[in-house]
Amino acid sequence: MNEMNRTPLLEVRDLVVRYPIRGLSKREIHAVDCVSFTVHRGETLGLVGESGCGKTTVARQIVALERPTAGQVLFDGTDISTLRERELRALRPRIQMVFQDNDSSLNPRRRVRELLCAPMLYHGLVDRKDGAALERRLGELMDMVELPREALDRYPHQFSGGQRQRIGIAKALSLAPQLLVCDEPVSALDVSIQAQILQLLRSLQRDLGLSMLFIGHGLPTVRYISDRVAVMYMGQLVELAPSDALFDRPLHPYTRALCNAVPLADPTARDFTAHVLGGEVGSNMTPPTGCRFHPRCPVARECCKDMSLNVSLHTVEDGHSVACPYAQERGG
Ligand SMILES: Nc1ncnc2c1ncn2[C@@H]1O[C@H](COP(=O)(O)OP(=O)(O)O)[C@@H](O)[C@H]1O
Ligand SMILES: [Mg+2]
Repeated sequence: MNEMNRTPLLEVRDLVVRYPIRGLSKREIHAVDCVSFTVHRGETLGLVGESGCGKTTVARQIVALERPTAGQVLFDGTDISTLRERELRALRPRIQMVFQDNDSSLNPRRRVRELLCAPMLYHGLVDRKDGAALERRLGELMDMVELPREALDRYPHQFSGGQRQRIGIAKALSLAPQLLVCDEPVSALDVSIQAQILQLLRSLQRDLGLSMLFIGHGLPTVRYISDRVAVMYMGQLVELAPSDALFDRPLHPYTRALCNAVPLADPTARDFTAHVLGGEVGSNMTPPTGCRFHPRCPVARECCKDMSLNVSLHTVEDGHSVACPYAQERGG
């Protein structure tokens, strides 16, 4: 526990990401708005919310593929959002990403061996001339993701989706990261395969003592793998709590809707709460004022659209925080 109390490995502070819309001067997509959370050492934080709510945008700022409009991304105490590319380069191996659709990150013309070697050589983690050490490391990686050594000499298309995801995980692990950002890593896989990949990620996380940000939109999946879970709605966090507390006692009306939607949900549906919630979703170009969820909220009041409404997360009990100012009076 002491370990957990020290500087978090990752701290996201008041993150804002806006995308300009081409051709529409001054209009912007409010993709992420004032999002703050931490990931502690050895912890898995789940990030859940419907498609388009800003999850991948958050991930891209954390792995420094983009620079945020405002706010900070502190990795081990350093604000990486202001680092120059040369300084970032030294940090990149420590923060690795596993993608939903990793086909685009696995060059089809390269054998697995080459796919895995390239980043390790680029970052100087192995010596090109020390063939034996390189081979040992490749073998180790195959063992970690439970693929046979022969896999090293095959091409990505010769594998199933689940096996390709194992290769994607091996590629991320090859750089010995401290933080793994997994963006819907099982969403594209058959349900029967999803559980195997999740189990693999969970045991790797534990065995290697990794920190993980696990992005998903299936609640059972996120619950299974996460120590804590953050719920996102239209660019903002609406609730954050330890996994069990969040799913057993959801406080925010949106989280409640998500929990109710689970057994019926079609995981591929864009808006999987549509059948439990009415109202207009609204646009992230002109987000609703006050609480962004108010147009769809079953218990909204007149004051929920007030511009001055404070919808930042506030703590209601140990480690459980919620953005709805009225969550507590309604009870858990
Ligand atoms: N590069 C971009 N340029 C413009 N808009 C973007 C870009 N990336 C994402 N968006 C928009 O930002 C919002 C959040 O997208 P995203 O982070 O991909 O959501 P999620 O991963 O939760 O499905 C969406 O409205 C999306 O269309
Ligand atoms: Mg996404």
